[in-house]
Amino acid sequence: MTDEFLDDIYRARIIETADDFIKTASNARSAMEAVVGLLYASIPHYDWVGIYLLDRENMLSLGPYRGDPSPHDRIRVEDGICGAAVREKQTIIVDDVNADPRYLACSIGTKSEIVVPIIKGGKVKGEIDIDSDKSKAFTENDKAMLEAVASKLSELF
Ligand code: SME
Repeated sequence: MTDEFLDDIYRARIIETADDFIKTASNARSAMEAVVGLLYASIPHYDWVGIYLLDRENMLSLGPYRGDPSPHDRIRVEDGICGAAVREKQTIIVDDVNADPRYLACSIGTKSEIVVPIIKGGKVKGEIDIDSDKSKAFTENDKAMLEAVASKLSELF
């Protein structure tokens, strides 16, 4: 078996486990907690994992997360890579955060970031935000897996 094949199986298993957590959790908050914990524990280069939720004032409000506390517990949709993912309604991968003028710093060690919107009925409800201390840490495989997890999370709204 190739490493690539094993990697595909591993990622498929993460998606299935996230689905189980979402279907069996007693409420949306605990489902999100479980999924954030799963992602953080499963992939070594995921150094900070959080879910932001769009609140009634159209601000991104930090929900469950793992990693160091973030100074950005509320983000305007006009700001940051997080805001850009809401406006563009698509996944954004930033290979080098320090070269991106949109970037709002969370931790000094962060080098790359992926933000994946959670979309239901054509509307963004929130997003998965992941930081890595490795530059260019996020691949198309991460994108595909996290978009599948985001699609499962959209069932919570
Ligand atoms: N880096 C994000 C802000 C959130 S922290 O990474 C947790 C951004 O640029 O929007």
